Amino acid sequence: MDELDELVRLDDSWGRGDLTMGEVNAKLSDAATQLQTLVGRTGAGADFTGWIDLPVNTPDRVLQDIDTIAASLRSNSEVVVVCGIGGSYLGARAGLEFLGSQPASTGHGTNPEVAFAGTSLSASQLLELMAKLTDRRFSVVVISKSGTTLETAVTFHVLRDELIRRFGKAVARSRIVAITDANHGVLRKLANDEGFAVLDLPGDVGGRYSVLTAVGLLPFAIRGFDIRMILRGAAEQRASSLTAPAELNGALRYAALRRLLNSRGKSVELFASFEPAFHYVGEWWKQLFGESEGKDGKGLFPASADYTTDLHSLGQFVQEGTRCLFETVIDAMASADMTFTSASNSPDGLGYLNGRTLSQMNRDTKAGTILAHRDGGVPVLQLLIPDFTERSFGALVYFMEVACAVGGYLLGINPFDQPGVEAYKRNMFALLGKPGTEADAAAIRSRLRAEN
Ligand code: PA5
Repeated sequence: MDELDELVRLDDSWGRGDLTMGEVNAKLSDAATQLQTLVGRTGAGADFTGWIDLPVNTPDRVLQDIDTIAASLRSNSEVVVVCGIGGSYLGARAGLEFLGSQPASTGHGTNPEVAFAGTSLSASQLLELMAKLTDRRFSVVVISKSGTTLETAVTFHVLRDELIRRFGKAVARSRIVAITDANHGVLRKLANDEGFAVLDLPGDVGGRYSVLTAVGLLPFAIRGFDIRMILRGAAEQRASSLTAPAELNGALRYAALRRLLNSRGKSVELFASFEPAFHYVGEWWKQLFGESEGKDGKGLFPASADYTTDLHSLGQFVQEGTRCLFETVIDAMASADMTFTSASNSPDGLGYLNGRTLSQMNRDTKAGTILAHRDGGVPVLQLLIPDFTERSFGALVYFMEVACAVGGYLLGINPFDQPGVEAYKRNMFALLGKPGTEADAAAIRSRLRAEN
């Protein structure tokens, strides 16, 4: 199989630094072994690997339910507020920004706006949203696997009260959709008790691997995107990522090179692009990799940059600062374009660009930047996808999920848990006075007094 058949192509020719072919091949062979551990469900966190088969085993009944709910929200809402955080937010946001970025995108038209909420405990952010909802017909999609996430729960409580105030209890109920664990949790119980429509988040899929479930698919469907095509792109990538030989397998090569660069002292991976449509893909990617591999004192710190904007801020550091970085630069082969025109004697001196397209300028700028960064000691891995369509988005998601899971196994950690996230929550709930945390609260308050 030719790797060029893959929807997501990895070019590592400028990303190997001083790695030898022998080292790369040995790590690739380890990655192939870890892929077998992953698909054989014999590794750490195997109970949370349901995402592996979502592109090929999501029942049509589930997609029809999503279509039905999306159609109903489209018919009765000007704004749909999607309320969730972390894995219950970032994939949907990444996909909507990515898919909506092209002028001919199906996500434009008359579909309701999707607004995001529950991503902080900021009063000003929530007040701004509430002001925006005044006089607009809105609905709420609340997404929480656990049902106990404070940011989501508090925001949903406020939004639900507003729906009841505006529309009355019965109509409010019909304007709420919950996406939560198929069997457990407070949100599942609330939805059942109150009669909200509910879509399941499968028990064997964790938050940050959930974008190809209703968590991502419902917001995409609300905006009119083709959710079957997203799954189809993911299924194509699945076929190559799970079966291509290691040397032709982009996801395995990406996983192996990340580990090797890490072992050579690179501690930060900077995910960069020259198209703003990738901005939230970068945010999603940071959560996927950061929460999956940042454990036991290990892991690459995932950072992101939007070029050329950040060449005017982070660029100096990337070029000449602490040599702890490598970059992963993502691009699409096809995107929107426009031609620049300028008279040859234009006083701003831009005549030399007359007739060039913005895409050409962006491509040349990218090539020049990558060359400069590599000359500055920053290895650069390059990822290329075909375009900003549903198929490409599905493929990109799947590529990253496999690379992340295999890379986590190469690192010797469980890529499917997040025990470290509990530490701040324990302190927060105790300080907020959640029943049952009284003993913790006394100890924390006395530590805060002593250590401040
Ligand atoms: O990836 C994860 O598991 C987390 O980022 C969660 O998605 C996030 O903490 C939100 O959790 P929940 O969906 O339970 O509200």
